[in-house]
This record gives sequence, C-alpha cells and structure tokens, in this order.
Amino acid sequence: MRARLAIDKEYEIGAIDKRIYGSFIEHLGRAVYGGIYEPGHPRADANGFRGDVLELVRELDVPVVRYPGGNFVSSFNWEDSVGPVDKRPRRLDLAWKSVEPNSFGLAEFARWAKEAGTEIMYAINLGTRGIDAARNIVEYCNHPGGSYWSDLRRQHGSKAGFGIKLWCLGNEMDGPWQVGQKTPDEYGRIAYETAKALKLFDPKLELVACGSSNGHMPTFPQWEATVLEHCYDSVDYLSLHHYFRNDDDELPAFLASSLGMDSFIDSVVATCDFVQSKKRSKKKMQLSFDEWNVWFHSAEADSKNEPWQVGPPLLEDVYTMEDALVVGCLINVLLRHADRVKVACLAQLVNVIAPIMTDNGGAAWRQTIYWPFLYASKYGRGTSMSVKVDSPTYESKAFGPVPYLDASAVLSEDGRHLCLFCVNRSREAVELDLRAAGFEGLALAEHVELRNDDLKAANTAAAPNRVSPKVLATGKAGAALAPLSFNVLRYSIGK
Ligand code: AHR
Repeated sequence: MRARLAIDKEYEIGAIDKRIYGSFIEHLGRAVYGGIYEPGHPRADANGFRGDVLELVRELDVPVVRYPGGNFVSSFNWEDSVGPVDKRPRRLDLAWKSVEPNSFGLAEFARWAKEAGTEIMYAINLGTRGIDAARNIVEYCNHPGGSYWSDLRRQHGSKAGFGIKLWCLGNEMDGPWQVGQKTPDEYGRIAYETAKALKLFDPKLELVACGSSNGHMPTFPQWEATVLEHCYDSVDYLSLHHYFRNDDDELPAFLASSLGMDSFIDSVVATCDFVQSKKRSKKKMQLSFDEWNVWFHSAEADSKNEPWQVGPPLLEDVYTMEDALVVGCLINVLLRHADRVKVACLAQLVNVIAPIMTDNGGAAWRQTIYWPFLYASKYGRGTSMSVKVDSPTYESKAFGPVPYLDASAVLSEDGRHLCLFCVNRSREAVELDLRAAGFEGLALAEHVELRNDDLKAANTAAAPNRVSPKVLATGKAGAALAPLSFNVLRYSIGK
C-alpha cells in the first residue's frame, strides 16, 4: 500500500516545549521503593539511588518529573517527608492502601532529580489540605532563608532550596476515588485562592489546574469550563489525564485509540478558548497532559494485592509490541498539538505503568514503550511541522475512518534535520511517498524501526532486548514502513 505525507517549510504547528517529554514518579507500588531508590542494591549509590535506573532515566532525557502523586498526594502531609529520616512518621496511604515509610522524601527526590538531570513538577495536596499547606511547602522549597519554613529547610541541610517552578494544584479533583473530591465550584475556588497565594509569593511560578480525570468522566467538559471560570487568569496550564486500554484484545480498535486522545485535546482546547472569549481575556490557556500511557495489563494482579505493604508490586504492566505502537501514535498526537500542549508526563517512569522495569535486588531493563519515547525525546525537539497524510483507511466503531499511516514531523532546533515519526497501523507494508516543500536536498540519514512479528512480544528480565529497535539501511527519500511498525526517519537537509 502507498501513503503520501506532505509537509511544507512554511507550515509550522509551533515550537515544541521539551517538557512534553516529561514523566512521573508517584509514591505508588515500586516506583520509589525498589525503583529509583533501593539502598543495599548492588548498583545503589551512597544515597540509595539505583545507578542502573539513573542511567536509563538519563538516556531518556526526561526534562521534568511530576512528584509525589497522583492519587497519593490527596491525603499526603508534605511535612512528613522532610527533616531527619529517623524522625519521619510511617503513614497509611489511603489511595493505594500501602504503608508510606517516608524514608525517601522531598530532599531525597530533589537530589535524585539533580542526578537524573531533570526538573521537579510538584503536586500539592488540595484533597485533605488547602492554601495553608500549599503556601508553606512553596516557602520551604523556594525561599532563600530568613523565614520559618525556609530556615527549617536550611536546618534540614539544604541551603540553596529546590527552586521548583512548576506546581500542580491538586490531582484529579473530580474523581470519586480521590480523597477530598470536590465539585467544580469548590475546586475552582480553592484553585483560584491557592494560585493567588502562590503568585503573591512568586509571580513567576507556573501553576497547573486540574482538568477532568479523563475524557470519559460524566462531567467532562463542564468541569473544565466551571473550574476555569474561577481561575482562568491565575493559572498557566490546565491538566489532562488519559490512559488507553485493550481489554477486548482488538488490535485495530486499540491502534485507533490515539484518535481519542486527539479529540480529547481538541475538546479541552475548545473549552479553554470558550472561557477565554467569555472572559474577554488576552491569555491563551496552555495544556499540561500530565498523565498519559497505556494501562490495563496489571488490573487483575492488582485486584489481588495485599494491603498495607511498603512498595508492593502495583500497576506493573508488562508492555507488548502493540502497546509500543500505540505509544508511538500517542506521542504523534502530542507533537501535532505542540502549539497548546506544553507539558506532558508519560505516567509513569519506573515499575508503575512504566518504560523502565526493575527486579528488587536485580536488573533494570527497557520495556517496549521505552523505545518510541526515547526516540521522540531525542529527535523530537525543535518545531513541530504540519503534516498532511493521505493514506488508505480502515473503519473503527469508535472513530470512523482511521488512516493506516500515523505521522508527525519535527524540524530540529538547528534546522539541519527533519525527523518523521511514523506508525504503520497496517498488516501490509506502506510505501511512503514524502513531499517536503521548501526543504532542499533531503537525504535519509537514519531509519530506525521497531517491530516484532509477535505483537504480544515483551521485554523481561530474562529477555530484555526481545523488542528493540533496528537501524535500517538508508537510500532514497521515501521509505518502506514494515507492517505494524514504529519508524524514525531522520533526514538531513541540504543547503
Ligand atoms: O498514574 C496512576 C494514577 O492514575 C494516578 O495516581 C492518578 O492520578 C491516576 O488516576
């Protein structure tokens, strides 16, 4: 089958904010305990940070990591996570029915983030707590000294502070599962008042208000509209969360799920712009898609979880080749919305619905979904270009016609490379016919392909490289995309 992809140097979607390659570490399952932190592990450093995990996180080059939750944050007292470790309380975490020993806390995460070369995106508890706890933690983290909370931090050993710029005002506050769930008016008010207090402290802080927990919530998108009526002018981003599933094991429908992400973003953009018009505001609300991924494999195992353990194995999805294809398509959606989506977090980073898996005391390895994320993070920085795809389609019940070819295009920051990320959703090869107006002397410099004949193939501790990318021979400007494959086509641009 043939598909045509047309781009034009004149038609840009917008500058890509590198923070769309963000991720997420929650105090959930083995993300922290047994994931990034495992004192006594042969690869742990003096801080207890696993060096093998740090190497993989650095390879992914994740610019921002959301922390410490998630649902966890809505009944979490941040004060428990600071000061001498032996004085910190053990608490019951109601969100995941686990025990939180607080032996890894704020200062430890800040140190880890520095070693990983990433920035912190900190989520504040607006479930059981409120404005007071919010203003205190911001002062603790960011004020240089000479006040109660900043001096306490200095006493705890951090003179410089953590300089955290990006703050989430709660998590999924519309969700009935959330401790301290709110109505949109209750949440909109508290988000507004919290934003006001934080911006009085520092107007340069960037604040994220909670959108709906996902696009299927019955109150979506009225939740967004009401919340923004309250806090439009005080916050910088509205959050989106969505996870994708394949419960019925129907590959074509699963591969089409990125069209759902597309229309979810379009609806949120439309709602934000409606509120903007209503308020006669000059400001365009930007989006933070701060939880996205495939999540369904672990549901059955999790239903048998023994409660009240430290670091239990929870949400340990083992990802397959087909999940990697879906993740490739989801990244394409984020890139095609680069004009509005400025932050995004692959949820999560280690062990919990994650690209990186570990065994306690053992190895760390890359899951299948690691690969599309790695290549996008590596080559997907610069300007997102408008792509016109002319491809044969198939019908899906949920979305109607679905193009077999899914693509995004990125012009590199130095203007010397054009990178296409292409997913072939078909069981047939696709012959790609590229028309790139305004780009002289394009030559295919690199073609990386991720595919496996067994679509259920996964990487494990015993076979960590079963699904891994292959570098193909390059030649003409067009390329052949193998059946059911993810492809990185990197072109050098002549003068
Ligand atoms: O990422 C796992 C969970 O999914 C998060 O804690 C929550 O915010 C979402 O429902």
